[in-house]
Amino acid sequence: MIAVAFMALIAVGCGQRKGSEKILVLYYSQTGNTKAVAEEMAKNLKADIEELSLENPYDGDFQATIERCKQEREDSTICLIRPIKANIEDYDIIFIGYPVWFGTFAPPLTTLFLNEDFSGKKIVPFCTFGSGGLESSAKDIAEMQPNAEILPGFGIRAALMDRMPKFVKQFLVVNDYIKGKEIEPVDFEYPHPIMESELDIYNTAVGDYPMLNAEPFDAAMRSNNGSIEYCFNAIDKLREDNPDMPADTIKVYVLVTYGVDTVFTRVVR
Ligand SMILES: Cc1cc2nc3c(=O)[nH]c(=O)nc-3n(C[C@H](O)[C@H](O)[C@H](O)COP(=O)(O)O)c2cc1C
Repeated sequence: MIAVAFMALIAVGCGQRKGSEKILVLYYSQTGNTKAVAEEMAKNLKADIEELSLENPYDGDFQATIERCKQEREDSTICLIRPIKANIEDYDIIFIGYPVWFGTFAPPLTTLFLNEDFSGKKIVPFCTFGSGGLESSAKDIAEMQPNAEILPGFGIRAALMDRMPKFVKQFLVVNDYIKGKEIEPVDFEYPHPIMESELDIYNTAVGDYPMLNAEPFDAAMRSNNGSIEYCFNAIDKLREDNPDMPADTIKVYVLVTYGVDTVFTRVVR
């Protein structure tokens, strides 16, 4: 019996594997949000972890970084990264983390995907963002690494980093990387035309967030780990106001935790 208990402990201790799969957490972070998520992922998974290191780091403020990126795009210059120490061949699943810049992964990741071959590997994208970008960036990873399998990813708003450890754990449990309190994933109900009370919830969550100007027209609900989650379909007014872009429908996800707060968790464009 002691031997069985010991074996069970070893199995728990070898958390860097999902089944027999070996996991690496590889990430870039400019201001520390993605770094914190990466460290939380690696801690829970007991996985190896490595940060991408740049030849010429983006160390300016937000506006300076935007200007430098624009310049690099105009000059077609690539953001040089130092060779990674880990050997990708040694791993089965690579959790790849980044901040969302201009709707997709930040430029150091473009260089990573040009330099390294993830063929035959499983990639779990994870990112931090102001409002969203997991879905679009995951699509772009699939385009740059067509022979890798892109698994469901994780994304969190920079504004919600205080509850990041809870969200990371929930993600790892639901996707079966670690054991934990079983949380039954529930599907959203069928969407219905938005009601006055739901519009209030939407407005509370979005407030005057500067990068989001949308008109919600329907809502769907589900319960999510003790909270209520809404998915609002909305017309993107940022686009409508821009004659070069057709008005588009976006999804805005909102989490209502009674007695705590009402926040939007991501925007899917
Ligand atoms: C140049 C730049 C572009 C950005 N573009 C977006 C964007 O398109 N969408 C978004 O939701 N957030 C955007 N952000 C916000 C970052 O994704 C967010 O602050 C992130 O948490 C930073 O991660 P880090 O601390 O790991 O660097 C941008 C930030 C910078 C500096």
